[in-house]
Amino acid sequence: MAAAQQFRRAVARTRLAPVAAFPFRLFKVARYDARVLRSSARWLVTSREHHNYTYELTALNREHLAWFVSDVCGVPVAKARGWMAELEADEALRRHIETTTAASARRGLADRSVRYARRAGWYAMIRALGPAHVVETGTDKGLGTCVIAAALLRNAAEGRPGRVTSIDINPEAGYLTRADPWAAVIDLVIGDSVAVLAGLTEPVGLFLHDSDHSAAHERREFTAVEPRLADGAVLLSDNLTKTDVLPHYADATGRRFLAFREQPARHWYPGDGIGAAWR
Ligand SMILES: C[S@@+](CC[C@H](N)C(=O)[O-])C[C@H]1O[C@@H](n2cnc3c(N)ncnc32)[C@H](O)[C@@H]1O
Repeated sequence: MAAAQQFRRAVARTRLAPVAAFPFRLFKVARYDARVLRSSARWLVTSREHHNYTYELTALNREHLAWFVSDVCGVPVAKARGWMAELEADEALRRHIETTTAASARRGLADRSVRYARRAGWYAMIRALGPAHVVETGTDKGLGTCVIAAALLRNAAEGRPGRVTSIDINPEAGYLTRADPWAAVIDLVIGDSVAVLAGLTEPVGLFLHDSDHSAAHERREFTAVEPRLADGAVLLSDNLTKTDVLPHYADATGRRFLAFREQPARHWYPGDGIGAAWR
């Protein structure tokens, strides 16, 4: 063994070890923090977003998302990758989002670039499962709603039609949802999600919680939608990083649970995720 290595091992056994390792540890954490600071500074000058941030996922994270979709929906991963690529290649949808955002009353606080992140997973799951009725709570601009509608339109072209009910408490929500062809399969409902869910009449094949992210509200939504679920329905939560409501709900209702955690590329935000519960 080289003398230097022997010396390091000897120091590691003493109380001086943390002191000796300090410069190395400082360098590691400073390099990491400098990366976060650089992407934060870049974001402050290049983005206008102040909530519901959009970003790309790293290539590795997109691959993990494809495997997540494959496992939850029981489809080959190549199919999941193909559907995610199909969304990225949808130029009509991208143009609609870009031009409508640029003309909207909120344009001063929105970026023009279209970045779907985990919504590509929602898209691929709807392509895989072909649900007749999707419910999304929390519309905001309608980015996710349009992504869901785009998947439903592709399903319809293959003989598997479906609609999405998107619910938001804010009367100004959903400015992206009003243009055809996407609007033709979107029912935008303004109201409190729990109250609206209680009044649904069409069975729900895929449910997505993305509204009030408190644990109590999330739990109320799953409870309200349960009697309205179609056989084999899948429950999704956008609240994965903030609560453990969906895993507990899955446990209590005899469902399986799986989590996908986002890894944004070139962004300070640590990302959200998708929680899925299914039988
Ligand atoms: C994170 S945003 C939704 C993002 C959207 N799904 C997307 O893909 O970009 C959350 C939205 O939930 C709405 N919201 C909050 N509380 C709500 C409630 N009790 N019922 C319905 N919508 C609610 C907010 O107005 C906001 O527009």
